[in-house]
Amino acid sequence: MTQIVSIHSYRGGTGKSNMTANLATTMAMLGKRVGIVDTDIQSPGIHILFRLDETKINKTLNDYLWDDDCSAEQIAYDVSYVLNHGSAVAANPNGKIFLVPSSMKSEDIATILSEGYDVELLQQGFYEVGDTLELDYLFVDTHPGLNEETLLSIGLSSAA
Ligand SMILES: Nc1ncnc2c1ncn2[C@@H]1O[C@H](COP(=O)(O)OP(=O)(O)OP(=O)(O)O)[C@@H](O)[C@H]1O
Ligand SMILES: [Mg+2]
Repeated sequence: MTQIVSIHSYRGGTGKSNMTANLATTMAMLGKRVGIVDTDIQSPGIHILFRLDETKINKTLNDYLWDDDCSAEQIAYDVSYVLNHGSAVAANPNGKIFLVPSSMKSEDIATILSEGYDVELLQQGFYEVGDTLELDYLFVDTHPGLNEETLLSIGLSSAA
């Protein structure tokens, strides 16, 4: 079963996204299968740390939350190429990292802020991503402060 770990702080800019990326990469280097979900829907950013090319991103977490036909597999991008990039320590070859980005399109962000979404779908998404990709760990990068998705992420987590 996938262990869900949320990284949260009340204040912004405290290092959540960098901490999430480092924790996920460390676990993957040890041979674990890990996922990262960017639930910072208002100001997504962790994809930058993984150099995920925005032009190659098709479906995002936003699509999963709005579109009944969008599956967990369609929103997870394999970013395991970071594991052997410039590291002095060889990564365990079994390790994998998948990133679920939020949309960077301003119209998508504006829509979700004004219209909201079914927060239970976010919970379903965490479980579906974990099961489909057979993840050992799912790290959740959160928006600062408390809102529905941060409370849900913390509530679902094995650790926060
Ligand atoms: N351990 C660290 N030491 C020094 N600087 C750091 C460290 N971790 C993060 N930073 C810097 O702090 C800034 C904020 O980091 P980061 O984006 O990870 O924070 P955040 O909590 O995710 O922010 P936000 O709340 O806006 O999502 C960045 O400029 C980052 O480079
Ligand atoms: Mg952040």
